Amino acid sequence: MKNKILVTGGAGYIGTHTCIALHEAGYEVVVYDNLSNSSREAINRISTLIGQPIDFIEGDIRDANMLREVFAAHQFFGVIHFAGLKAVGESVAKPLLYYNNNVSGTITLLQVMAEYDVKNLVFSSSATVYGDPETLPIDEVSARSCTNPYGQSKLAVEHILEDLAVSDASWSLIPLRYFNPVGAHPSGQIGEDPNDIPNNLMPYISQVAVGKLEMLSIFGNDYPTVDGTGVRDFIHVTDLAQGHVAALNYLQQHASSKSGSDTASSVGFLPINLGTGKGTSVLDLVAAFTKVSKQPIPYQFAARRAGDIASCYASADKAKELLGWEAKLSITDMCQDTWRWQSMNPNGYK
Ligand code: NAD
Ligand code: UFG
Repeated sequence: MKNKILVTGGAGYIGTHTCIALHEAGYEVVVYDNLSNSSREAINRISTLIGQPIDFIEGDIRDANMLREVFAAHQFFGVIHFAGLKAVGESVAKPLLYYNNNVSGTITLLQVMAEYDVKNLVFSSSATVYGDPETLPIDEVSARSCTNPYGQSKLAVEHILEDLAVSDASWSLIPLRYFNPVGAHPSGQIGEDPNDIPNNLMPYISQVAVGKLEMLSIFGNDYPTVDGTGVRDFIHVTDLAQGHVAALNYLQQHASSKSGSDTASSVGFLPINLGTGKGTSVLDLVAAFTKVSKQPIPYQFAARRAGDIASCYASADKAKELLGWEAKLSITDMCQDTWRWQSMNPNGYK
């Protein structure tokens, strides 16, 4: 069985955790990352945690020739494709950068995969493709729509993958739609390391707790939710990483492979939510983090943030049925591991 996996964006937040989970599950990993939003130190730390050097190539997914060299040098079973830019606000200011990086970059990657007949892909999609959902919990057949270039880039890639699966039945393409990834590796050695002031709630809370930021602004307390603040489906990043292992294991069983069973048919386009199925409000998360960190987290209520929705949580049934995967870790675990990472590394990897 072929078990070598190319992990694009593997030096990033979700990628690093997934590399460790893949290694523990017996997969061989090659990381391909341009380090535009990550660092070599993250790669060093993966190597320390797995007890051997990780195979790392510094490169850009838009560089077809470099990708060709990588595919020529390795026999991959498939690709986990994390590489992408992810800041919603920046995507509004720089749409061409986002479409170029996330959409053109993915097209280049898919073209090179086709050239080397590697047709198994797990793609980092997002719950953002559901826009403002009509019903909760959100299942995979819910309508999709996006309002910002980042979300549009994820949706565009999903459409491309759907078209590709229709055009050629030998592709097996699993977009995993992540809900809100938070938390860190239990060792405290790897975690989320935002470049500037964090846009997302959990890193903001943890930087207030550690004293780097003064006060949290809670965007809106008049939503039709349990306490008026936004409700999200926070999922521990190590659970998320296990979801990728489960998706690859599924592909190992169901996707056609040059060296696998000749009789296996391919999977086609198979979108799957990765969430816990549970909603937690902003105020509940602040309370949980305060309890775990034993630090004060001052906050003020502010106006709603443009583009935000009231509530978003997954139906996680499809992942359980097809992949045999479900999230195991609690909000307390997410806060504990975030706090360990933040307090052990107040300046991230720097
Ligand atoms: P991240 O920024 O920490 O990781 C992305 C990695 O991709 C970085 O290491 C970056 O250097 C690399 N990269 C970016 N453009 C590249 C390019 N052109 N070529 C090579 N490498 C490139 O982000 P993350 O939180 O780990 O997210 C991983 C993926 O999951 C992204 O595609 C993101 O859009 C998606 N996603 C993230 C979230 C979230 O809240 N973190 C939610 C839903 C989906
Ligand atoms: N929030 C605050 N204050 C902050 C930051 C966030 O009150 O400083 C609130 C938001 O208003 C929202 C909730 O916390 O109600 C969660 O916000 P995040 O920014 O952490 O997460 P989002 O749900 O807005 O978006 C995240 C990712 C997107 C992804 C989406 C769905 O940032 O990239 O989840 O997966 F598309």
